[in-house]
Amino acid sequence: MGSSSETPKQQTQSSGHGHGRRLVLFPVPLQGHINPMLQLANILHSKAGFSITVIHTKFNSPDQSKYPHFKFQPIPDRFLENELASTTDVISLLTVHNVYCVAPFRDCLAGLLSNVSEEPIACLITDALWHFTQAVADSFKLPRIVLRTSSVSSFIASTIFPLLRKKGYLPKQDSQLAAPVPELPPLRVKDIPTIGADIPGDLDELIEGMIKETKASSGLIWNSFTELEQPALATLQQDFGIPVFPIGPFHKNFPASSSSLLTQDQSSISWLDKQAPKSVIYVSFGSIAAMDETEFLEMAWGLANSMQPFLWVVRPGIIRGSEWIEPLPKGFTEAVGERGHIVKWAPQQDVLTHPATGGFWTHNGWNSTLESICEGVPMICSPCFGDQMVNARYVSHVWRVGVQLENGLERGEVEKAIRRLMVEKEGEAMRQRIMCMKESVNLCLKQGGSSYQSLESLISYMLSF
Ligand code: UDX
Repeated sequence: MGSSSETPKQQTQSSGHGHGRRLVLFPVPLQGHINPMLQLANILHSKAGFSITVIHTKFNSPDQSKYPHFKFQPIPDRFLENELASTTDVISLLTVHNVYCVAPFRDCLAGLLSNVSEEPIACLITDALWHFTQAVADSFKLPRIVLRTSSVSSFIASTIFPLLRKKGYLPKQDSQLAAPVPELPPLRVKDIPTIGADIPGDLDELIEGMIKETKASSGLIWNSFTELEQPALATLQQDFGIPVFPIGPFHKNFPASSSSLLTQDQSSISWLDKQAPKSVIYVSFGSIAAMDETEFLEMAWGLANSMQPFLWVVRPGIIRGSEWIEPLPKGFTEAVGERGHIVKWAPQQDVLTHPATGGFWTHNGWNSTLESICEGVPMICSPCFGDQMVNARYVSHVWRVGVQLENGLERGEVEKAIRRLMVEKEGEAMRQRIMCMKESVNLCLKQGGSSYQSLESLISYMLSF
């Protein structure tokens, strides 16, 4: 059984001992996965001096001009832009690519390993969802370390899918949705992190591959921190038997995300500059979630009727069947006036840091959830699929820093939730709690803090290969 504390401590983070060794990273080409992987690359380069090569699919390839200090190696793929229109597509495409990418990835890695003009490769770091990379790494006798970009708690929930099926929680029955799952407190059946139709299929296969090959790996990195997820980390260390490194939140090491695939609209900030402190509700559902026109209109009227200023990210394509905000009824923009600002994509981390931002209505993707915790911004939770459901439950019922919209998107409920969060005493209590969490983030990253120490262990471990 390994843990981060069991690896030898040899050095401090700024000493640059990684000079002379190279790390090869391979992210899953989706925004919520690219951001943490490139942040991790930046951490390991700047704090430990490792050279970095990023292998990436041509689809959603990172903007190399933002990373002049890294090398990039593209490999071919079969992703098509319009194929990623729904979440079910994402799962089946990842399943297909865990087979399709084997040969191009192996050839690419073979080329890198045989290149004697570059530093020797210490290890491979790949997204947990790229489970095929373990066999490739083994064939080269190269250690593989896994990055899982979700919360630890949601990962634990997905590791017991077979048990949950056996016990009859899956497929989810409408009459059972509110029933507790005693194996995963405080989750209810509705919070189990399934995607789409929860019949056995691609998702189970992908998760099974992820778990098996993570157990076979040399270690597991988390964009989380010990104080936030202690019980889940303890379970993981018991069940997985590999070294575990909670070194997050990654993005706090770097001021802003440079790995955005869409252009971040800076008018978000100039608009926020004109708003009163803590008055604005920021709304964004991340890079994949989609909704029907009816749901979109309920959101719009809920925001309008709340009378609270709002900054709303409506990603092009988020409304099924529409290009952008055409479904907004005539007169909506005029009725809301300067009180609302709609953009296609925002500089989210800067928005959350802004003094005018008082709440975040989010789909609870793990990056968004962590970013909100780091800035002490309480949340309204509208999880859409997968790990988001677990994150939302933790936000509302474990950390108690948000309210969950339990019955979908309905304007009256939206208005009520905004009032609870932004105006009422209950919201103020949540704000105080999340400000304490923000403080614990700052402590865990400081010298001697849990994430700081875990990063030291990770660096030493990688240098020991
Ligand atoms: C996906 C899954 O949905 C999520 O549940 C999983 O944990 C990671 O992969 P996504 O839906 O995009 O991610 O959500 P999230 O994890 O929150 O990541 C979105 C990222 O895009 C965040 O880092 C956020 O700062 C950034 N973002 C979002 C912007 O830069 N601008 C925006 O307008 C919205």
